[in-house]
Amino acid sequence: MTWHTLGPSAGFPEGVLKTAAAPGIRAGLVVVRDQGVLRALRNECPHAGKPLDAGEVKNGCITCPWHAYRFNLKNGMNVDDTDEMPAKVYAVRETDGLAEVELP
Ligand code: FES
Repeated sequence: MTWHTLGPSAGFPEGVLKTAAAPGIRAGLVVVRDQGVLRALRNECPHAGKPLDAGEVKNGCITCPWHAYRFNLKNGMNVDDTDEMPAKVYAVRETDGLAEVELP
């Protein structure tokens, strides 16, 4: 596992979905600060592989814009159908004003 720099923490204001490239993750990441905590997910919905970055963030979840499944930002769980695959989430840390994501 390695930490990959996403950029300055200030570049991730509350509730604003951003995309980020990440080595080894072809779809890239979708990054959002929710209730003050920065979250990162693979920018690929596990339902049908569509990008999540045009989704909506509300109540700790991101809603996929394609078929409206909601995924918990903290653990990726599909809160509408727990039998569905979860979204892939990555650990994020903020140190000295920099945001970093942990990659495999
Ligand atoms: S592609 Fe995301 S809910 Fe279907």
